[in-house]
This record gives sequence, structure tokens and C-alpha cells, in this order.
Amino acid sequence: MNTNAPGSATATPESADAHWVRISDYDAKNGWGDAAATAARSRWCCEQLEAGQILFFDGIPYDFPQTDRDFLLEQRQSDSRIHKNISYRPRQDMLRGSVADSKEDIQRLHNIMRHFSEEVTGLLKRVLQPYAAHWALDYASYRPEEEQNRDLSLHKRNDLLHVDAFPSRPTRGGRILRCFTNINPTRSRNWLTTDRFNTLAEKFARNAGLEEIARSGDTSSFLNTLKRALGMKIVDRSAYDKFMLRFHDYLKENSDFQQNTTKIHIAFPPMATWMCYTDSVPHAVLSGQYALEQTFIIPLKALVTPEKSPIRVLEKLAGRPLARESAVG
Ligand code: SIN
Ligand code: FE
Repeated sequence: MNTNAPGSATATPESADAHWVRISDYDAKNGWGDAAATAARSRWCCEQLEAGQILFFDGIPYDFPQTDRDFLLEQRQSDSRIHKNISYRPRQDMLRGSVADSKEDIQRLHNIMRHFSEEVTGLLKRVLQPYAAHWALDYASYRPEEEQNRDLSLHKRNDLLHVDAFPSRPTRGGRILRCFTNINPTRSRNWLTTDRFNTLAEKFARNAGLEEIARSGDTSSFLNTLKRALGMKIVDRSAYDKFMLRFHDYLKENSDFQQNTTKIHIAFPPMATWMCYTDSVPHAVLSGQYALEQTFIIPLKALVTPEKSPIRVLEKLAGRPLARESAVG
């Protein structure tokens, strides 16, 4: 078992270069300096993410006032079986899952989440420049519960290794990119990771039902028309979306994989910020409390190495397209 601790003297070179990279030359105020340096470094960062790396910053590389962090440390959330986290939807400017006592506190929490979302968006515009014109800004969340020993159903458990897929927001091959900050003043947020997506796909995709799902194709338009006529909510999933949802559950259900796969521990220290494609970096959070996260959906056309994306990896294995607009290759 590897121990891999960014920010700590115990990180070993073998493990340190394996699954995360430290971005130590980025300055919160001046970024990477001039336009040419920013273009080169930000393209490199996109390449690293697309190769399955976690990008790690030692501190908070954007504005996050201490008073806001202090306020967040006092917040709880509503019944965690209903809402896993406190969430913020930037496009609707909507907050969900808070049980703050007063109207003023709810408003304050809302303002803090809005500011967090805007600041992280600004950070990624600089750090991941090639994506900025194309991404869809997804939800942000605040995670105030201790992750160790949470009482969640198997498929909702965060302490089992998995890759992310959203039941309500199909991406048709678009990527799920998430940026996290640990605001816990004293404790690290402790993750596990394991082999990269292509290795997991080679090992398990067939067993998880890839070929059958690939043959079934997109959700049928007849079924959608029928559902629409009945006033039902439609989630238009491609074969890729169906497989990714299945794979998320399959990995969590697979106790042999959970127990025996190579485990790499990563401890994200207080105030660390990190980002990765959580649809392909297998992850589990073993312990930690008080983290924030902002999600972005990056379309295939914005990727600098689209051939490495999970949809392309899976299409090669399945031998056929997994979303209407995509092609094998
Ligand atoms: C997850 O996406 O599985 C949870 C990661 C975290 O909250 O640290
Ligand atoms: Fe996850």
C-alpha cells in the first residue's frame, strides 16, 4: 500500500509522480504572469488532467475570506439521507440542503456559496484556459459532515472506490471535472485512488455489461416521446451515460475489487485545493470534514487529448459508438 501525502514530508517520489501533480508556480494574484506562460502552463494542466492526474495546490489559490470559512465551519445540513451535501446551482443561483437557523444565516450561506462558485470559475478560467469557452458550469457543494462512518446506502457511500456519473445530468461523453478545497483548519481530507480508468475498463467493463449497453444504444426516442406525452421527466441518456451509471454501481458492489485492488492514499491537508476528472480518476473519501467543491462539465470538443477520454476508451473496447454524435477511434 502506498502513502501519498501532498504537502507532507512523507510523500515518496514514486508515489508522488504517479497520481497527482503539485502546481507550485501559480500565484493567486498574478497567475503565471504573462499571456504566453499562461497559455503554455494551462494547456499542460489540461493534458495532465486528461491523463488521469490530480492537480494539487498547497493553499487556496483564489479569494476565500477567513470570515466566510469560519461561518461555514458552524453550518450543518438537513437530513443527510435526503441531501448528501449542501448544494448550490450557479445557473439558477439556488441553494439546497441547508438547515441554517435564521433567514440571515441562509442568505449568508447563499452569498458565500455564490462567491465560492464565482471564484473557482475565475481560477479555472486561468488555470485551464482551453476549456473556458466551452464548459457548462454545474453544481457546487459544501460537505460539512464527517465522511468516516457515514450512514449512507451502498450506492451513495463515498468511502468505496468509484468513478462519478450523474443520474439526472447525462453528459453524452462530456467530462466531469471537479475542483475541491478542504477548509478544515486542522485535519486532512483522506482519499483513496487506484488504477487508472483504462486499466479498470479493461478489467471490468465487459463484466459490468458494456457490450449489452453499447448494443442497446441511446434511450429510445419513442420511449421519450411517450414519457413526454405522459408529462414524465425525461433524462435522455446515451449508451455512454447508461454504462457510466452502471460502472459506478458495479465498482461499489464489487467487494473483491474494493478489498483487493491496489490502494493509493492521498491526504489533502487543511486549505489544499485540488481538481481532477472524477469520471475517470477512481476515488473514495475515507475521512474528512468541511470541504467545498465546484463541478464543470467539459465537452469532448474542448479536450486537448480527446482520444484519452473514457468514451473513447470504452468505444474501443465495445467496437461501436456510445453516443449518437461520437465515433469509434
Ligand atoms: C466523491 O465525489 O465521491 C466525494 C469526494 C469528496 O467529497 O471528497
Ligand atoms: Fe465521487
